[in-house]
Amino acid sequence: MQSLDYSHIKNLDDWKNKIFCGDCLEVLQNFPDASVNLIVTSPPYADSRRSTYGGIHPDNYVEWFLPIAKELQRVLRDDGTFILNIKEKAVNCERHTYVIELILALKKQGWLWTEEYIWHKKNCTPGKWSNRFRDAWERCLQFNKQKKFKMNQDAVMVPTGDWAKTRLNKLSDNDKIRFNSQVGSGFGKNIANWVGREMAYPTNVLHLPTECSNKSHSAAFPKSLPTWFIKLFSDEEDIILDPFLGSGTTCVAAYELNRNYIGIEIKEEYYKIALANLDAVKVPFVQNSLF
Ligand SMILES: C[S@@+](CC[C@H](N)C(=O)[O-])C[C@H]1O[C@@H](n2cnc3c(N)ncnc32)[C@H](O)[C@@H]1O
Repeated sequence: MQSLDYSHIKNLDDWKNKIFCGDCLEVLQNFPDASVNLIVTSPPYADSRRSTYGGIHPDNYVEWFLPIAKELQRVLRDDGTFILNIKEKAVNCERHTYVIELILALKKQGWLWTEEYIWHKKNCTPGKWSNRFRDAWERCLQFNKQKKFKMNQDAVMVPTGDWAKTRLNKLSDNDKIRFNSQVGSGFGKNIANWVGREMAYPTNVLHLPTECSNKSHSAAFPKSLPTWFIKLFSDEEDIILDPFLGSGTTCVAAYELNRNYIGIEIKEEYYKIALANLDAVKVPFVQNSLF
């Protein structure tokens, strides 16, 4: 699909709550600087789904992604966050290193690699290949422009859970004081702080099922995935961008959390599906008059 010309859109209000059909590298060039609060996206994985939406050869992945990342860096606000859902594929019986190379290249580009969340696909069925088992997790890499970024930790608290019943039942002397890490990391913990609390902070492993009901895109992530990051890294009215929108999941999640959204999808077929999915949640979108 040929990208449409969006160069006449100058005002941020004209970008908000719309999705665009085109190559994100071209469309993003029209966005104002520092205009987006959070980017949550899942780009095409290297080569793996060539039959459905094209693929980038693993050897060329970093070279392909870097110019896009540069634009994302430009449009992201200084206190914003970029979440990149990605997974390396196996090539010739071993894991290709393109994700690791991409992390290093993004760091060179000026991004801070702040955290790595693991999405554990908890409803994965078993599988077996000659030298490995079923992939049941994917990376959600967190990049930032600066060390201080917006983070609403309380928004993703979880019930304290069963561990507390046993672990907090018998506290050692060290549990009752702030016990500093023995490896000199500078971190410490006071286990006794959690006694009597019903909610605790989650870990960086997200146990979320894949959504088998969304048949409109072969690589859609579950709405719970962008929802979690949107709650954590943005406030209401903030602007959430997904430059590889697919079936529109991130925009739907953003809308439902009272955030503004912007989505970009290169394939007309998926763009139309995303429009329909947004329509289904009664988003008052104005269909792009250029399309
Ligand atoms: C992994 S899928 C995203 C799926 C999405 N998270 C969802 O839940 O439906 C990646 C999408 O990026 C689109 N894409 C690939 N290259 C693109 C580009 N240069 N600009 C915009 N979209 C692109 C593909 O067509 C595909 O729909």
